[in-house]
Amino acid sequence: MGIEMRILMMVGLVLCLTTVVHAAQGNAVYYKPPYTPSACFGNRNMGRMVAGVSKELWNDKKACGRKYKVRCIGGANEAPHPCHKGKSVVVTVVDFCQPPCNGILNLSQDAFDVIADRDAGKVRVEYTQ
Ligand SMILES: *[C@@H]1O[C@H](CO)[C@@H](O)[C@H](O)[C@H]1NC(C)=O
Repeated sequence: MGIEMRILMMVGLVLCLTTVVHAAQGNAVYYKPPYTPSACFGNRNMGRMVAGVSKELWNDKKACGRKYKVRCIGGANEAPHPCHKGKSVVVTVVDFCQPPCNGILNLSQDAFDVIADRDAGKVRVEYTQ
């Protein structure tokens, strides 16, 4: 095998591993509009695909403006079909989810609706930055 091919394969492998490492899991809940004011941006409207994060991710406001790609991976309660399979949504962090936050991500209702059934209320998600 040529050296270029080996290098290419190494790069591919590293990229794959990095993606896996960055995918974290936790519970997500949601909140209803209006999505302002927010702890990060005050009254500035950051759109509908926004989220609050709990203290694990908040990092003293450093999380503000960060984007997470989120997908539903399962139920967190008894709801029968909580996930919208194959869907993911990208949200911008605009808020702090006060303890006791019921999840690691507190998604806007609009974002939650994309990946899960609203009736489930709370779902397990995988998120990557
Ligand atoms: C989600 O965020 C909203 C707005 O900041 C807040 O009012 C609500 O209590 C949060 N939900 C949970 C479960 O912490």
